[in-house]
Amino acid sequence: MTTKINFNGQIHDELNISVLDHGFLFGDSVYEVVCTIKNQPCFLDKHLCRLFASASAISLDIPHDKQWFQEQLNTTLSAAGNLESYIRIIVTRGIGEVNIDPSTCHRPNIIIIVMETSEYPESCYEKGIHVALVSIKRNSRDALNPNVKTGNYLNNVLAKVESNKLGAQDAIMVNSLGHLTEGTTSNLFFVRDGHIFTPSLDCGILSGITREIVIQLSKENGFRVEEGKWPGEELSEADEIFLTGTIKKVMPVSHLDGRPVGSGKPGPVTLKLMRLYEFLLKG
Ligand code: PDD
Repeated sequence: MTTKINFNGQIHDELNISVLDHGFLFGDSVYEVVCTIKNQPCFLDKHLCRLFASASAISLDIPHDKQWFQEQLNTTLSAAGNLESYIRIIVTRGIGEVNIDPSTCHRPNIIIIVMETSEYPESCYEKGIHVALVSIKRNSRDALNPNVKTGNYLNNVLAKVESNKLGAQDAIMVNSLGHLTEGTTSNLFFVRDGHIFTPSLDCGILSGITREIVIQLSKENGFRVEEGKWPGEELSEADEIFLTGTIKKVMPVSHLDGRPVGSGKPGPVTLKLMRLYEFLLKG
């Protein structure tokens, strides 16, 4: 397992970062997770666009352009030399005074972690995972917009803690209106009578890159896809449920709150989308 960490353009084997960085003190940072295919970053342009959009949403000026990130990624991936890599790009507010005011931070820190991919076990895809609809609500869009990918993930961490206690592998959250939103690090889809449903962006979710591609693949393959608002209870009526994300890809859900979803096995629509997405990535 080789891990390399790029800190503001310099590659290290290990990195210690200042406790005065506001990323550490306040979660004042933005980030992206990117996977590789044939050790090349996958959908990198989309991830970099979202990174810059997230930074802009929190008034964080990144002192480099997308090209710089591409170059740094290439050198860091070469230095790591893994077969496939997990990439985490983090931009923090940087070092400042120990108070909430970001104007005391004068230079963002850019950290690119490249490590060997650790994929979910095959059994997650063969059998599906257990999820719980948790009581923790997804952040409101007018508080900390879930469509801004900041390093402040405590909302999601708390949902995960609750699902751990419930013996589930992941959590699904509703928003303050009780509408379905997303998983802790993934987007949510469900299937009923052969049609595909997914919470719309205005429910307060991250506009996932995998979500966008899966919607497109579904439509191209003749499925009806509806983006909308549904109460949490709607999920218990689903024939199939699946999650999407850069690392999870298309992951089937077999159980919701301890009860089987449909047959309790990955359903035909989910299986088809898993194959289509895999084919798109690997050909
Ligand atoms: N998370 N929703 C949330 C809250 C997420 O954190 C993520 C991604 C997604 C899916 O987005 P995408 O398809 O662009 O990966 C949805 C990454 C993988 C993470 O934080 O590890």
